[in-house]
Amino acid sequence: MIGRLNHVAIAVGNLAEAAALYREVLGAKISAPQEEPEHGVRVVFVELPNTKIELLEPLGAASPIAKFLKRNPNGGIHHLCYEVADILAARDRLSAAGARILGDGQPRPGAHGRPVLFLNPKDFSGTLIELEQA
Ligand code: CO
Repeated sequence: MIGRLNHVAIAVGNLAEAAALYREVLGAKISAPQEEPEHGVRVVFVELPNTKIELLEPLGAASPIAKFLKRNPNGGIHHLCYEVADILAARDRLSAAGARILGDGQPRPGAHGRPVLFLNPKDFSGTLIELEQA
């Protein structure tokens, strides 16, 4: 059911510094920063030949990334995003298998404007998974 690895997301305390590190030290191509108030994040995408890295900085006091950074002050891997062809079919299949969908279970527009859902990390080896309809 899952397809390509769309991106690996890394939570960072300072987005400008992290973007500069990827651009100048690692020599990667970086997108312009974008704000996603609905998800409480400001993001920059690092474009790699085979996938992307999503650098996430908290946006707003209620950001889930702020909580994550409190537990991981140096930043760290926050989630993996897998592509699916049909997000509602994927959700229904996962729910039927006993996996828990975060939030109200309704897909929301993600960083690429396509619908996304997040799965409870307790059901997936401690990894927060984002599904994005490709
Ligand atoms: Co993501």
